[in-house]
Amino acid sequence: MRILVIGGTGHIGSYLVPRLVLGGHEVTVVARKPSPQYTDSRLAWGAVEWIVADRGAEEAAGTWAQRMASIEADVVVDLICYAPAQNQLMVEAFEGRITHFIHCGTIWAYGPALRTPYRESDERRPIDEYGRNKATIEADLIRRYRTTGFPATIIHPGHISGRKWLPIDPQGTRNGVGVYEKLARGEVVHLPQMGRETLHHVHADDLAQLFESAIDRRDAALGESFSGVAPYAMSLVACCKFVARLFGREPNIEFASYNEMATLLGPAWAITRDHIDHSPCCSIEKAQRLLGYAPRYTTEQIYIECLEYLLETGQLVV
Ligand SMILES: NC(=O)c1ccc[n+]([C@@H]2O[C@H](COP(=O)([O-])OP(=O)(O)OC[C@H]3O[C@@H](n4cnc5c(N)ncnc54)[C@H](OP(=O)(O)O)[C@@H]3O)[C@@H](O)[C@H]2O)c1
Repeated sequence: MRILVIGGTGHIGSYLVPRLVLGGHEVTVVARKPSPQYTDSRLAWGAVEWIVADRGAEEAAGTWAQRMASIEADVVVDLICYAPAQNQLMVEAFEGRITHFIHCGTIWAYGPALRTPYRESDERRPIDEYGRNKATIEADLIRRYRTTGFPATIIHPGHISGRKWLPIDPQGTRNGVGVYEKLARGEVVHLPQMGRETLHHVHADDLAQLFESAIDRRDAALGESFSGVAPYAMSLVACCKFVARLFGREPNIEFASYNEMATLLGPAWAITRDHIDHSPCCSIEKAQRLLGYAPRYTTEQIYIECLEYLLETGQLVV
């Protein structure tokens, strides 16, 4: 099939595009720079057709819709759509011309769960603009599928991680290697409240597997949303324990109030706060049942892969 991937060189695309090429598809990728950011350009990427374009600039100039309308594709995977108006342009450009449209959402569209694990059929309660926009796009696409048959699928990733892209760390933020150094050396790591808030990571290659499965099992995927996450979520304490034990230690955790955490972490606290306010914990049952989703990475395996890379490259010294 001819597959167009918008934003296909980042975390997801770096893993998804080689999978699609190796699956025998003709793949066209839109990006501002024609090279993958997280996987080796010598592996499978030679077969990719590139469209070098700046979506934001072309949307502002009013030329994006025309560019999209000129592309012949069977499947469109939109990895970088954040606003309902952007999605509307895509629907208008491809309605009636493609067999499958896959939008990349986010588990932030769900908002904090009322029961866990959160199922795709549960109520959406997004708490920030990013999540609200993604939830609106999802609702628009599902409505269009039901009313006009627009062939939409939505995939909602958790915290994307990969070998060269640090996972959200056991303190709930992305603050360099500091927390890993402390856990490896047995130094104090502060966690908010009781550290029971959760993170729900996903390895980018597992996410790529889910997008690929949605394409392969189109009939099961049409009109549906899927959470793209690791098999289970983990608490901050559990993440700390796992990373410390990798280095043969128990974590030296001290609990702190939100105000104390804000002082201790500085600007990084906003990222932790965002993660713990959501405390995601999502079910993969639907993706397993309908798409045969079989993630290879747990959060623990994600940490191992990333820590190996940090050690190999000398970024983490313990
Ligand atoms: N990161 C996460 O943890 C996370 C979690 C949940 C959901 N998501 C969702 O995942 C999607 C993002 O995927 P990702 O993490 O793979 O993205 P990413 O790593 O930020 O990569 C973005 C991709 O889009 C291209 N791009 C960026 N701006 C562009 C522009 N103006 N015009 C054309 N191409 C552009 C980039 O290439 P160039 O820079 O060369 O243009 C790259 O290929 C979003 O829909 C987001 O909501 C992400």
